[in-house]
Amino acid sequence: MIFAGKVAIVTGGSRGIGRAIVEAFCAQGAKVYFTYKSNEDLAKELAAKTGALALKCNQENPAEIEEVSDKIFANEGKIDILVNNAGITKDAMSLMMPEADWSAVINTNLNAAFFWSKNVAKKMYTQRSGSIIFISSVSGLIGISGQANYSASKAGMLALSRTFAAELGAKGIRVNSICPGFIDTDMTSKLPKDFVRNQKERISLKRFGKPEEIANVALFLASDAAAYITGQNIVADGGLSSVI
Ligand code: NAI
Repeated sequence: MIFAGKVAIVTGGSRGIGRAIVEAFCAQGAKVYFTYKSNEDLAKELAAKTGALALKCNQENPAEIEEVSDKIFANEGKIDILVNNAGITKDAMSLMMPEADWSAVINTNLNAAFFWSKNVAKKMYTQRSGSIIFISSVSGLIGISGQANYSASKAGMLALSRTFAAELGAKGIRVNSICPGFIDTDMTSKLPKDFVRNQKERISLKRFGKPEEIANVALFLASDAAAYITGQNIVADGGLSSVI
């Protein structure tokens, strides 16, 4: 029970990697709030299963993010952990990418992570403690055709993570990021079969990762075991980005 007495927020927690993080944090005794966009049934099911609390909050609306983070702080009087997990893809080759798809991905993945971190860090600032984690992607580290919007958003999250770490370290707040490679979730289930087969061949471990394998990294970074780690990024990609 490494998180007994801790309050955690996970954005986009109803499925995939976010869900695995909610489950892992609850299993370690944290009081977990997670946000969801629209699938209320799934959110309720996870809340009933784990004891976590589900709050509807659209990443594309900064006012909603402020309202929800204020509500959690008012309920609990503190926030110990924030995981910026919610994210979307809208892939297209750059020259064909509609402006709306560029903006939706930047707003959901990058701008929202900034607003969440800013609001929550203000509360952590007064506590003089806290841990913020950004779920970025290997797409923020290497070029992947068709992901200009997504790659830019994920590289931006890495930059945000380092900047927040530099600004907040003196107040006892640690800020780190995780770059997953391909993980088996709804997000990757729509990839073409040939592409998946080729990528699995390239990955040193010859398989996609499991959401729980990313949750384990988040558990470590949010815990006291990582007490002297801030401004860092952990790549969990089965070796994908380390070979040619
Ligand atoms: P997913 O599609 O299964 O889940 C995404 C979550 O984000 C869902 O809970 C969804 O409700 C939430 N979300 C999306 N738009 C939202 C909005 N406007 N407001 C509130 N919530 C919203 O995806 P997955 O795979 O679990 O991804 C989680 C994070 O991990 C994302 O940031 C993704 O970019 C990142 N990631 C995923 C990888 C993968 O291979 N699955 C690889 C690298 C990073």
